[in-house]
Amino acid sequence: MKHVFRKGTDLKAPTLLLLHGTGGDENDLLPLASRLYPGASVLSVRGNVLENGMPRFFRRLAEGVFDEEDLIFRTKELNDFLDQAALEYQFDRDHVVAVGYSNGANIAGSLLFHYQDALSGAILYHPMVPRRGIPLPDLSRVPIFISAGKNDPICSPQETEELVRLFEGAQAPVQVHWTSFGHQLTGAEVDASAGWLRKAFDLD
Ligand code: MLT
Repeated sequence: MKHVFRKGTDLKAPTLLLLHGTGGDENDLLPLASRLYPGASVLSVRGNVLENGMPRFFRRLAEGVFDEEDLIFRTKELNDFLDQAALEYQFDRDHVVAVGYSNGANIAGSLLFHYQDALSGAILYHPMVPRRGIPLPDLSRVPIFISAGKNDPICSPQETEELVRLFEGAQAPVQVHWTSFGHQLTGAEVDASAGWLRKAFDLD
């Protein structure tokens, strides 16, 4: 997968896995990583699917309707890529925190739904429920930060609450931050997630 890797200065910190939104690329979220924790190593990945020229992490059939078969395939592809990248760049595969926005948050959510050891934590900005009707692995050691817009036209507050219930049902510690700027990623939620990350992973 196309990507950028930057080795950090604090090797005890988790590697931040950056996952962009639809139409973004591996460069989009790099400034965010410095705001979250400047010492962390960063692996920023470009989604392998193109929708009218816009990179995404998996296909969709319509707005908000995911191609489940492709989602499952692409989730495995990303998980396998993480295994390879950890060997190549010598970062701790067991200490990766995903930072995803929108479509990137959805593939990160799908990693959590499908693989117990894919991530050691996740920051999900404006995620949706990636799949329904499957058992989740035990996520009791995987802290999750979710931010969501009360007036998000792409993801309703009900869907956010459903996602929180699913993660909590899998024993994950979840923190939710609500905004009122629709589907936009705001500075306030980035700041809130930075505070959460430092606390959850003892980074200060
Ligand atoms: C998705 O397709 O993953 C969601 O609708 C978010 C987006 O628009 O990318």
